[in-house]
Amino acid sequence: MSHAAVRDDTKADVTADPAFSFDAPHLVTELPGPKAREHIAFDERYTSPSLPRAYPIVPVRGLGSTIEDIDGNRFLDFCAGIAVNVTGHCHPRVVAAIQEQAAQLLHYSASDFYLPIYAHLAAELERIAPMHGSTRVFLGNSGTEVVEAALKLARYATGRQYIVGFLGAFHGRTFGSVSLTASKAKYHAHFGPMLPGIYHVPFGSAGLDELEQRVFHRLVPANEVAAIVVEPIQGEGGIQVPDAEFLPRLRRICDQHGILLVADEVQSGMGRTGRMWAIQHWDVEPDVVLTAKGLASGMPIGAMIAKEHLMTWAAGAHGSTFGGNPVSCAAALATIGLLEEGLIDNATARGEQMQAALGPLVAAYPDRVREVRGKGLLIGVQFDSGATAAAVEHAAFQRGLMVLTAGDDVIRMSPPLVVTELEIATGCRVFAEAVAAVAGH
Ligand SMILES: Cc1ncc(COP(=O)(O)O)c(C=O)c1O
Repeated sequence: MSHAAVRDDTKADVTADPAFSFDAPHLVTELPGPKAREHIAFDERYTSPSLPRAYPIVPVRGLGSTIEDIDGNRFLDFCAGIAVNVTGHCHPRVVAAIQEQAAQLLHYSASDFYLPIYAHLAAELERIAPMHGSTRVFLGNSGTEVVEAALKLARYATGRQYIVGFLGAFHGRTFGSVSLTASKAKYHAHFGPMLPGIYHVPFGSAGLDELEQRVFHRLVPANEVAAIVVEPIQGEGGIQVPDAEFLPRLRRICDQHGILLVADEVQSGMGRTGRMWAIQHWDVEPDVVLTAKGLASGMPIGAMIAKEHLMTWAAGAHGSTFGGNPVSCAAALATIGLLEEGLIDNATARGEQMQAALGPLVAAYPDRVREVRGKGLLIGVQFDSGATAAAVEHAAFQRGLMVLTAGDDVIRMSPPLVVTELEIATGCRVFAEAVAAVAGH
């Protein structure tokens, strides 16, 4: 099947269709409701206690930018399943692509065989990649898997061992990616030792001074560093947007020393910031770009897109049984089509609306709200403390708005890119009520 056939299934313009969401917020029980409480007790008997549940919501259905819980309560979803559902919940074109592919072929390992849709998606990813020239693509099932792939490729392609990352970064939870993660010590607690050979410096231009003056000068020669891995906008670290000089200078440092620049766009990519890739806001080209979360609108997938000349590794050096599953690939192709047909532009417009609506909170609550920042639909509101951020998150939930804390004291908002003007206005109003309640107004 050609990928064009997957993308052209229907032409529904979802952002213009008010029926493509539940009417939300619409609460019919106290929160959590009776069925939610019963389910949570059941869940907590069987599931891993390591799962960091934010608040007691039990979602069972989703539509557009809204979620319905097990008791029939409807929420405006400004989390999008942690920045995943870029095309909203159950977009008809994504669902159709999944159904069509599922009826034809559910799985055939692309590591050992030539799965057509895998190569079609790889070609599409080269077309939209934030670098010029040819690329080759490795598909995995998650963000952490493609971070691991990038660490292995960087060592393999350069013959060097060391990796540099940034304080505040989040790259995943498997051993390589968690070693590179430096957002919270709890991710490392009781798991040490971490992967050796990883150095961290602060995020931003001051961190690059430290990289050159401390790391390269006193700790490890620059010509033994394989890669520098960076989130162009740190997500989990609290929606940290770097200063204007940071990424261009980082590119120059990498060029000067033959170091690979790896952009982890697992959270910031797929149109969320108003460009396909956040790094494009700074006109910087990485050597490797990583994507996952939003790529297939919720189906598990991850992609490492690397410049072709770096993909020197031999057959068998890396692979995955499930990576590039055909159903996930079909969902990814449908997602890319929708992003390019208007959702990226919608992210810019709705993001500006959101910052304009939330910005006045800083002046209204100077003791509580420190800053509103972000790009497109990746927005952070920084509070005076983590306790305030957690209280606002809870107060928003109680009012039918789903948001999520990030960093030390930030609330992250990452709505689906199909979100409408009315939904943003409603969500921001509810958020302001939550802040007012926590501030005691
Ligand atoms: C920037 C970034 N990289 C990697 C990951 C890991 O992705 P996954 O949870 O799919 O393994 C995340 C997850 O939040 C992320 O935000």
